[in-house]
Amino acid sequence: MSDDIKKGLLGIVVDETEVSKVMPEINSLTYRGYAAQDLCEYCRFEEVAYLILNKDLPNTIQLRKFEKEEKNNRDLSKDLYSIIKKMPKKSHPMDVARTAVSIMGLEDKETTDSSEEANMRKAIRILAKTPTALAAFYRIRKGKNIIKPKKNLNIAENFFYMCFGKVPQKEIVKAFDVSLILYAEHSFNVSTFTARTITSSLSDIHGAITGAIASLKGPLHGGANEEVMHMMNKIKSPNNALKWINNALDKKEVVMGFGHRVYKSGDSRVPTMKHYMFKVAKLLNKDKYPKMYEILENEMLSKKNIHPNVDFPCGPTYYMMGIDIDFYTPIFVMSRITGWSAHIMEQHASNKLIRPLSKYKGEEVREVMLLNQR
Ligand code: ACO
Repeated sequence: MSDDIKKGLLGIVVDETEVSKVMPEINSLTYRGYAAQDLCEYCRFEEVAYLILNKDLPNTIQLRKFEKEEKNNRDLSKDLYSIIKKMPKKSHPMDVARTAVSIMGLEDKETTDSSEEANMRKAIRILAKTPTALAAFYRIRKGKNIIKPKKNLNIAENFFYMCFGKVPQKEIVKAFDVSLILYAEHSFNVSTFTARTITSSLSDIHGAITGAIASLKGPLHGGANEEVMHMMNKIKSPNNALKWINNALDKKEVVMGFGHRVYKSGDSRVPTMKHYMFKVAKLLNKDKYPKMYEILENEMLSKKNIHPNVDFPCGPTYYMMGIDIDFYTPIFVMSRITGWSAHIMEQHASNKLIRPLSKYKGEEVREVMLLNQR
């Protein structure tokens, strides 16, 4: 392949952004200038969602107004509930999320208005409704009744409530909230770039987020958090971890939850998420996951010098919380809606149609022969 082709857009800077800054050289990530790990320590996900969408942290009054709007928009239309009820029970919840957001676009009164004000209102509606749609499917496929959202709960608490009918202890909610903060935004990754590409043709926010969800589903992107847990379940016990990982490396397999296109010496989100994963394990007396974590991490580092990415601690954290594995990437969606929406608004504000070139390597010009001559 010739040198002028940058397959996978490797190393190509395609635009500017004010939303987040990934700094692999110092292992850091900021949202609108604030370090993600500080946001995890001092803020709730709602504050971070406001920050990402509105460019600054909210004061008390701004947060109250934002949360009120989010809470008032959580419930779904009767039609959407009934469509979700009719979806095949074996559907992957990512496909449910993708279809649900697409239907929200059919129902939204402002779908064709892509002004910044309308996009902000739509972003909050998508942020508010998507967890409800997912939780409804969580219960429907188990043959359980749907639990409607509750306005006196925050986003993290309400998701647990809608899935399980109760809110777990505050340390569990905090770990989940931290995962939402860490998943909220990460510059020009595949799904965000997909959302911006769709937006660049002046398409609407529901379409862009629908496309972004499809892109996030893949195991090389968001889907890795589910694969990590399948892998840990295959390994079963820390005693098997070393043998398993060496066998995988001998067979040149890709080990899920490791490696990153941008971070080559460690994912800035990992130390925070690892800390909360270990906290949850201690609280719930499930030390086999931290043990497995350490063995796999050490072996990947010493044999391949490849660090874990944020999906590595997220997978087992959600598993210990009792969440079905195929809901891990949809949880990522619930959070990343904020980052995608901010990028969609940024793209609209300074748009240029995204249209790269390709180098043709197919047949040279040929003459068409009539059907009876071929
Ligand atoms: N396991 C084993 N080897 C790996 C891994 C891994 N997880 N990641 C990278 N490598 C190896 C590759 O085999 C390659 O080796 P080679 O040079 O001998 O061929 C080398 O490291 C470079 O890897 P690339 O795939 O070329 O790096 P790239 O930047 O294109 O890929 C990616 C990054 C796709 C994330 C890759 O590391 C991967 O597949 N990881 C597993 C999936 C995963 O965890 N994805 C989540 C990403 S984070 C997120 O989306 C939130």
